[in-house]
Amino acid sequence: MSLASWWDRMVQRAPLVIDTAVPDDADALAGVHATSFAHDWNAEEIAALLRDGNVIGFVARRATAFGRRRAVGLLLLRTAADEAEVLTLAVDPRLRRLGCGLKLMEAGLRRLYRDRITALFLEVEAGNQPALALYRRLGFTQVGERRGYYGHPDGTSSTALVMRVDLTRSKRR
Ligand SMILES: CC(C)(COP(=O)(O)OP(=O)(O)OC[C@H]1O[C@@H](n2cnc3c(N)ncnc32)[C@H](O)[C@@H]1OP(=O)(O)O)[C@@H](O)C(=O)NCCC(=O)NCCS
Repeated sequence: MSLASWWDRMVQRAPLVIDTAVPDDADALAGVHATSFAHDWNAEEIAALLRDGNVIGFVARRATAFGRRRAVGLLLLRTAADEAEVLTLAVDPRLRRLGCGLKLMEAGLRRLYRDRITALFLEVEAGNQPALALYRRLGFTQVGERRGYYGHPDGTSSTALVMRVDLTRSKRR
């Protein structure tokens, strides 16, 4: 086994911790974001968002062999009056399907309940099956569609589904 895959296995087995993100986490969060999206956000952009009073950030970390914690996932939410939207959600591809995305979303939903937010919206690419499965599991339903919303480098585009979950009726997490 290579050192890199040994390291990944160590991190996969380590307990997952979800923390509120602060601007000092921006470098680590930009690193995770870049693993998941072609149009990455740099650390300055993420730090600026985390300084915005209407943005709530969460970072998922797993402990490493030397007692340090490595950022493996992020969730950014923005509130406007009594509603909120998901700005971004990403998990390091080497550490997917281990419950990290679900735990990040649950932490976000708990915070929104606490803040008396009534609904959470998001946009997701119509073909993004992992994200769609996660959001449906959390009670999101489709409320709209934006054709041609995502432009791709090869000149094609794809559809965004607009999804919403009602936080006034869902079970408290
Ligand atoms: C979407 C994403 C955040 C999910 O993160 P994750 O940590 O792998 O998700 P989890 O392990 O918490 O999965 C929770 C549940 O979501 C569903 N799910 C997640 N990935 C799935 C997949 N590849 N296929 C089918 N269902 C999936 C399952 O119901 C899963 O529960 P289960 O493992 O008990 O079956 C991750 O795939 C990712 O970062 N994708 C790239 C970025 C992205 O698309 N972000 C969303 C933009 S809107």
